[in-house]
Amino acid sequence: MNIIVTGGSGFIGINLIKYLINIKSCKILNIDKLTSTSMNYWLKNLEKNKRYKFKRIDLINYKKLNETIYKFKPDIIFNLAAESHVDTSISNPQIFIKSNIEGTFNILEIANSYYQKFKKKNFKFIHISTDEVYGSLDIKDKPKDENSAYMPNSPYSASKASSDYLVRAWNRTYNLPTIITHCSNNYGPYQYPEKLIPVIILKAISNKKIPIYGNGKNIREWVYVEDHVKYLYYLAIKGKTGEVYNIGSNYEIDNLNLCKRICLVLKKANKKNIDYTKQIQFVKDRKGHDFRYAINSNKIKKIIKNVKKTPLNLGLQKTIKWYLDNSEWLIKKITK
Ligand SMILES: NC(=O)c1ccc[n+]([C@@H]2O[C@H](COP(=O)([O-])OP(=O)(O)OC[C@H]3O[C@@H](n4cnc5c(N)ncnc54)[C@H](O)[C@@H]3O)[C@@H](O)[C@H]2O)c1
Repeated sequence: MNIIVTGGSGFIGINLIKYLINIKSCKILNIDKLTSTSMNYWLKNLEKNKRYKFKRIDLINYKKLNETIYKFKPDIIFNLAAESHVDTSISNPQIFIKSNIEGTFNILEIANSYYQKFKKKNFKFIHISTDEVYGSLDIKDKPKDENSAYMPNSPYSASKASSDYLVRAWNRTYNLPTIITHCSNNYGPYQYPEKLIPVIILKAISNKKIPIYGNGKNIREWVYVEDHVKYLYYLAIKGKTGEVYNIGSNYEIDNLNLCKRICLVLKKANKKNIDYTKQIQFVKDRKGHDFRYAINSNKIKKIIKNVKKTPLNLGLQKTIKWYLDNSEWLIKKITK
């Protein structure tokens, strides 16, 4: 099976590639433009593997992308490439329109002409979207399912919602075999320290203030990244094209309590008996900060039953271990 992973040098992409490379029938091509938050270093050990290739390409570069896709002849395209940080989307939205919307348009056009030419059996274009497109929930609202209306509030979620609509249209209009996924917040190894969990860990161990937006009461649903990538692989095998699938965990927690939990796991993990919660500092809230995201993932669980959910505490322990083991490298990368 020839698999393209766009955005393969980002957090979820690295985890997906590390999972797929263990499946002997998979040949992988990683297409990534390498932004400053990419973590390509962690794929260096795959460079000698004959089943792995990397091409540095911006999805905006239609010609290069076109040549590369036709040459590789994929059976599956996982489209993860995107600008992904909500804060950056507020300060610099333009790049989100370029990469997330225009970039998706380019790869859809190429995937469609390639598919119509070769009509590869079981070809799938799997577009990785987010729960944020459903907008913010109140505490008593039911988790959103795949039929819920889109209500994106940030430039990031609006750009992802726009790209989802393009994918839907290419399926309905041209019969391109697509799947769209909406995953909740991921956590785990290889996430660049601009996102909440790695920020908390690295600030804590560097004896710095741990910034928490507003009053810390915003709620997110957290999925361990290895669970997410297993679902993506099984969707490539069993997912029905033209469909949308939510991928969540039901582990909802507010940012302050998540931070306290990390501080506790950290205290046990590095045996220094430090109360890291003393470093927590509330900072000015993010503009338009959505209060809560929560999704109903029953649909995917009906077709994929063999992904065992990683409990939040276990996932946090594994994540913290990885950040502690690699803290020197990570701190160097972010202070460069
Ligand atoms: N991290 C999460 O919690 C989460 C949750 C749900 C969905 N998602 C989605 O999953 C995907 C991956 O997220 P992530 O957390 O790994 O993000 P990330 O920012 O860590 O990685 C994204 C990768 O895409 C690459 N990229 C960006 N623009 C590109 C372009 N124009 N051409 C080629 N490559 C480009 C970057 O260089 C980077 O390596 C994104 O589409 C995101 O919207 C993420």
